[in-house]
Amino acid sequence: MDKPRATYLDHNATTPLHPEVKKAMTEAMEVFGNPSSYHEAGRQARELVENSRRVIADFIGAKPEEIIFTGSGSEANNAVFNALSNQPPARREIITTSIEHPCVLRAAAHMAESGVPVHYLDVDETGKVYLDQLESTLNDATALVSVMTANNEIGTIQDVGRIAKMCHERGSLFHTDAVQAVGKIPVNVNEIGADYLSSSAHKLYGPKGIGALYIRQGAPFEPLIQGGHQERGRRAGTENTIGIAGFAKAIEMRKAEMAEEAAHLAMLKLALRQGIERVIPEATFNGHPTDSLPGTLNVSFAQTRGEAIQLALDLEGIAVSTGSACSSGSLDPSHVLVAIGLPAAQALGSIRINLGRTTTPADIEQALQALARIVTRTGRAAHAGPGDCCCGGQCG
Ligand SMILES: Cc1ncc(COP(=O)(O)O)c(C=O)c1O
Repeated sequence: MDKPRATYLDHNATTPLHPEVKKAMTEAMEVFGNPSSYHEAGRQARELVENSRRVIADFIGAKPEEIIFTGSGSEANNAVFNALSNQPPARREIITTSIEHPCVLRAAAHMAESGVPVHYLDVDETGKVYLDQLESTLNDATALVSVMTANNEIGTIQDVGRIAKMCHERGSLFHTDAVQAVGKIPVNVNEIGADYLSSSAHKLYGPKGIGALYIRQGAPFEPLIQGGHQERGRRAGTENTIGIAGFAKAIEMRKAEMAEEAAHLAMLKLALRQGIERVIPEATFNGHPTDSLPGTLNVSFAQTRGEAIQLALDLEGIAVSTGSACSSGSLDPSHVLVAIGLPAAQALGSIRINLGRTTTPADIEQALQALARIVTRTGRAAHAGPGDCCCGGQCG
């Protein structure tokens, strides 16, 4: 019997390669030269890298020389915090938010450990940053404000243009982690007014292990990786030519497909949400009702655990994820769901469902039917006592 097609609804974790990206990467494998070499093989590789840089820059309204390639979105974000290592002591404070991706939160915490004052903005129940809190926190010592464009767990889109303007009025730099936004919604560095912007290929049907950082011309920067003169001296290391070619092709495909796909995903998401409301009326939804990534739905179920639902869905060939992190044997509720004010029990009963370019109405129907069955079953099990939990009572 044929194995049933797996239903992948975890596109914020990563995306499958677009078939055109696979082709482009296969072709790029023939371009073996080192882009820094002064011979024909090297020149071919250099051309591939620079053509790709142009495509990516153009997509977000940047100049090619304002883009550096990185090994990931995490590296791009870390590079921004590192960029401030040489700021004058009178202007070295950082402001970020309580709902950033761990790579931003850890980079900020690292700065705090080295004595830099770091302020964390709160968010309201939809995940939006309080702009009045930003206003009162910004001061003449603020060097950098880092606010993500869209959240990976609940999909909330911030008013980054307004935030950037507020930062500039107080003379501070603005970075946005746009890893979940680029390729899903229109992102333009000039419209935002960003000084730094991070993106990552594997979130937009490109390969893993390749990211890009926009650095506005003239913005301060210190290389995170020291060595050769690659990327105009801003990121050492021989370029990942195959990854870069894949990234550029993924962007080209986004340019062609993004708008139509966003409308399709928004429709599927609405159908999923309404379906859940119908079959599991006690379910509640997290994130902003309208300013939200088109394919992202985060939902909480009472009296059950997100992990139990995720595992049961996985057994039925449906991939979703939870926001909780397993650390030292206990499952902590997602910091994002806690930040929007969910009680721990409700946060722990949440899953995130992320639709993508190949998601069909049949996938939504399948997920809906499976959820209805599983939530009823796991809800009953949770009532029976901790020994019946998905983790055998370990998760506390
Ligand atoms: C918002 C956000 N920022 C940064 C990252 C890190 O990107 P990468 O996996 O390329 O390191 C992710 C990945 O999940 C993300 O969702």
